[in-house]
Amino acid sequence: MTKLYLSYRETLKGRKIKMTDVELAKKRGEEHLKEILPAIEKTFVYDDTAYHLPIAFALTGTAVHDQNTAREVFLKTGNNPIVASEFLLAEKTAKRGRENAPYTGFIADTVIRKLGYSLVDGSILGLALVIGSSESPGTAAAICRELQEKYMLTFLAGPVIPALLNNGVRLGLEYRLVPLGSTPASGVHFVDVIARVAMMFGGVTPGDAQRLLMYAAERAKAIVIVFPGLSDDEIALVDGMRLLGIPILSVGDYRGGAWIPVAAEDAVRKGMEEKGIRVNVTAIPIPMGCSPAFEGKSIRKEEMYVEFGGGRSPAFELLRTRPAGEIEDGRVTVIGPEIDSMKEGSANPLGILIDVAGKSMKKDYEPVLERRIHNFVNYGEGTWHVAQRDLIWVRISKEAVAKGVRIEHLGKLLASKFRMDFPQLLDAVAVTLITDPVKVAAAKKEAERVYEERDARIKGMRDNDVNTYYSCTLCQTFAPNHVCVITPERPALCGAISWLDGKIAYEISPAGANQPVEKGTEINALNGEFDGVNRFVRKASHGEIDRCSLYSVMEYPMTCCGCFEAIALMLPEVNGIMVVNREFKGVTPSGMSFSTLAGTIGGGAQTPGFAGISKNYILSDRFLQGEGGIGRLVWIPSQLKEELRDRLEQKLSDKGLSGFFDKIADETKATTFEELIVYLEKVGHPALTMKPLV
Ligand code: SF4
Ligand code: NI
Repeated sequence: MTKLYLSYRETLKGRKIKMTDVELAKKRGEEHLKEILPAIEKTFVYDDTAYHLPIAFALTGTAVHDQNTAREVFLKTGNNPIVASEFLLAEKTAKRGRENAPYTGFIADTVIRKLGYSLVDGSILGLALVIGSSESPGTAAAICRELQEKYMLTFLAGPVIPALLNNGVRLGLEYRLVPLGSTPASGVHFVDVIARVAMMFGGVTPGDAQRLLMYAAERAKAIVIVFPGLSDDEIALVDGMRLLGIPILSVGDYRGGAWIPVAAEDAVRKGMEEKGIRVNVTAIPIPMGCSPAFEGKSIRKEEMYVEFGGGRSPAFELLRTRPAGEIEDGRVTVIGPEIDSMKEGSANPLGILIDVAGKSMKKDYEPVLERRIHNFVNYGEGTWHVAQRDLIWVRISKEAVAKGVRIEHLGKLLASKFRMDFPQLLDAVAVTLITDPVKVAAAKKEAERVYEERDARIKGMRDNDVNTYYSCTLCQTFAPNHVCVITPERPALCGAISWLDGKIAYEISPAGANQPVEKGTEINALNGEFDGVNRFVRKASHGEIDRCSLYSVMEYPMTCCGCFEAIALMLPEVNGIMVVNREFKGVTPSGMSFSTLAGTIGGGAQTPGFAGISKNYILSDRFLQGEGGIGRLVWIPSQLKEELRDRLEQKLSDKGLSGFFDKIADETKATTFEELIVYLEKVGHPALTMKPLV
């Protein structure tokens, strides 16, 4: 290859062409890639994706797995250097296997789907690629930190990764710093992520290159920051990303081209400006970082200084409305010992009381706001929170305590975040943190009374009791024609939004993504089809979807955006319906894995026979109503079965179906149709004798 470079350089010299560095390197890189591409051997394939080689697939609609197709597709894309790089990397991955830790290599479809939701709800504002080798690791660390704090999801490629690690920066998806691979060439995964986001959520059909480029340029908020040290090939790869409308910020000594030269400290700001990514973060005066970037991190036992709850000590949280005059906004009170008088490694009692006031605040909103405590505590760089109500488990890390974090700061964080995130709703927020054991016990009793009251209010609410359902079109950012209709008995497919949430969101922001849907006249009671719902869906889907039944998988099911917690699909061979959840990695009796299935039904389409659902919907009386009820359920993964066991068994016995739980197969009973049929016959599953599905 050196020879190729040399001769190429000679040619250029001979012709006395004057080119700037980037352009020259790019030309050489492109030549190089074109030259070596025919040498690609045999097959290449990525695991964990239904999108083949995603960039080539998105651009041409062709699934590339062998050399001949590769060559064809390469020509079709006009010798695109990114496509060439994708082939080279895929071949390498197929040959040598994935790169080892800490590198992630190719990112699986499932990860991207989760990501999609964060992009939708604004907890990720955009995507960044940091590539090359930073001269000083401190500079790279500062850039990454700024990207974290500005809600960006950052991918890293090449020598910058070990440099960051040596500088004590923690990497991983949970920190929103994803180390793709040891070489800058792995930066091509950044592009295959964008290509899949476009196909999964953006309604981009594979092969529609025009639409893909438009999507990438307008919707995908992506930037690239380049450090020095890239080879010609790598420069060609990065420069190719400009085609996708991605600004290339150069912190290196590259000259020329259309790259934007910047000083390191301006790179993030400038890049975000270029893409119009606006971030509104006000610093909270506490001695630890606070950002959704830290939400996914955990604090392990060895890393924790103290913990609260989690079955080790009594703990609870409660948010309640108070008359405006009774609350001093921003006031934080700690009742009981501070962290200094707690033993390292100990479990302590804790009560988190959030008192709020606001003219438009209502009692109904309390549980919805209370659930945000979980997010906010996890935003703290050294604080961690799981579960809710009196089941909470909170940890504060040693690192944070060493930096001066106290219980009081947890209160400051909560008070500030509630005020920042609900400006229209809340005029005053005060936080009380109780650590005194006797007082925690007393306050917890009171909290339990409130939980019960709330449950009684929501429980037993039926679809028939209300005339208005709520829509959600948050995911239209990605799936432009997707509409969720949320009813009391059918929570949203993403599991994140209940009917009450939709109602409250509408009341808080009437022009937002949740709108009231008047039910209208019944068209088909069993399937849950109403003319008002149809009218709404028709309009909100821009005329794409004509009819939508709320309780049927088979006839006019709801559209799927890609965020579903689980998929329900028909298995005509056994006259039943199976459900597979996102966490299940194996192949289901349908012959497909969750990710393959998800790849086929997402993007906002309506696919009869398939429905995206939330896990909790399985417990609803409306589940599979159109198909004859829960008796149709023939298979679910064992882990989901266990997760639902107590509640599902209760439900079934209420319906006089005790014993049915064990008739539902899982992967330990059947992994293929054949095995499933044998099992269902053995247990005498009711689906076998139900009305034929098709
Ligand atoms: Fe997306 Fe539907 Fe969840 Fe809204 S309710 S965020 S549209 S999946
Ligand atoms: Ni969605």
